Amino acid sequence: MEAVVPAEAVITDLESDRDFITLGIETSCDDTAIALLRGGNEALYDLTSSQTEAHSPFGGVLPELASRKHQEAIIPLIRGALSGARLSPRDVSLIAVTAGPGLMGSLLVGVMTAKALSQGWDVPLIGVNHLEGHIFANILAHPDLKPPFLCLVVSGGHTEMVSASGGRDYALLGSTRDDAAGEAYDKAAKLLGLGYPGGPAIERCAAGGDAGAFAFPVGMKGTKDVEFSFSGVKTSLRTLLERMRANGDEIPAPDICASFQRAVTEALLSKVKLAVRKTGVRKIALSGGVAANTALRGCLTEMGKANGWEVFLPPQRYCTDNALMIAAAGYAAYAAGERSDLSLTPDPDWSAWREKI
Ligand code: KG4
Ligand code: ZN
Repeated sequence: MEAVVPAEAVITDLESDRDFITLGIETSCDDTAIALLRGGNEALYDLTSSQTEAHSPFGGVLPELASRKHQEAIIPLIRGALSGARLSPRDVSLIAVTAGPGLMGSLLVGVMTAKALSQGWDVPLIGVNHLEGHIFANILAHPDLKPPFLCLVVSGGHTEMVSASGGRDYALLGSTRDDAAGEAYDKAAKLLGLGYPGGPAIERCAAGGDAGAFAFPVGMKGTKDVEFSFSGVKTSLRTLLERMRANGDEIPAPDICASFQRAVTEALLSKVKLAVRKTGVRKIALSGGVAANTALRGCLTEMGKANGWEVFLPPQRYCTDNALMIAAAGYAAYAAGERSDLSLTPDPDWSAWREKI
């Protein structure tokens, strides 16, 4: 009979292996990212080729253009990361690649490249869930973060409250009914003519603005479920701008951005409070691109202090898409005994969570 090794024991063993190098590959949306990770959480090299400029004229990501750009960037980036870290393909112990969720064409570039390299270099392969990767951005930065904890995953495609109960077991507490929080920022920035991606643009414009100037609706505030909605705040912004433009009023962009940011932040934080009340878990992590938002980070930190919660924030550079988080999640999956093979195919809708608890 085969010996069953508990996952924790395997992880501990691998973490002490200074020679274990994971190559992380992330191409789920519009950033081509490559990273090299030593052991479970030592970042060796981290490269990202951003497509922001290419997509900017369209006010959002153009899937066909994204795939082409990944195709151009991926091999030079892998070469660049290896030579930057003074490593060769022979030093790579594992290839971890985002296999979903994301844009099919974009995912395919990463997965096909990873499979070819795995074959050519004779290195094991692991397909990683992008959202689990975002959670690992926190674990990378805070090795002391252990389950049980709650994680608010807020990105361009997702707004989900997840309960991490142990090992790599995640359950969904609730999600958005319409737009994701990052999507709301992107759409608001488009309405205001501030460019793409919208989150950083709104945040920059909000600096110095009065967050109390406009009373935008706070989605799902006061409902008894952990659920989010951002279509109301977006519609309210559109209506306000139409009215002001029709009247020939000057648009007070900083006040509008600050008020919009406050409504989105309040919608997110009111449900953090509810999730803590429902689960009794008082450790909260934030992840995904919107976790880079300074107002959200500041308010969650304050809320944590006021309520005696432990709050974990990934450093700004780990919030948006990157390959270190994919390498770290891939490493943990590998350490727990998971493997992928050449049958690995991208799943644009892959959920990392068990359905609602
Ligand atoms: O995680 P991410 O890089 O890509 C996805 O997986 O979606 O998240 C990108 C999203 C975009 O919608 C972007 O507008 C938003 O994160 N974002 C921000 C900030 N930085 C990025 N939203 C608010 N404030 C920011 N500082
Ligand atoms: Zn992401």
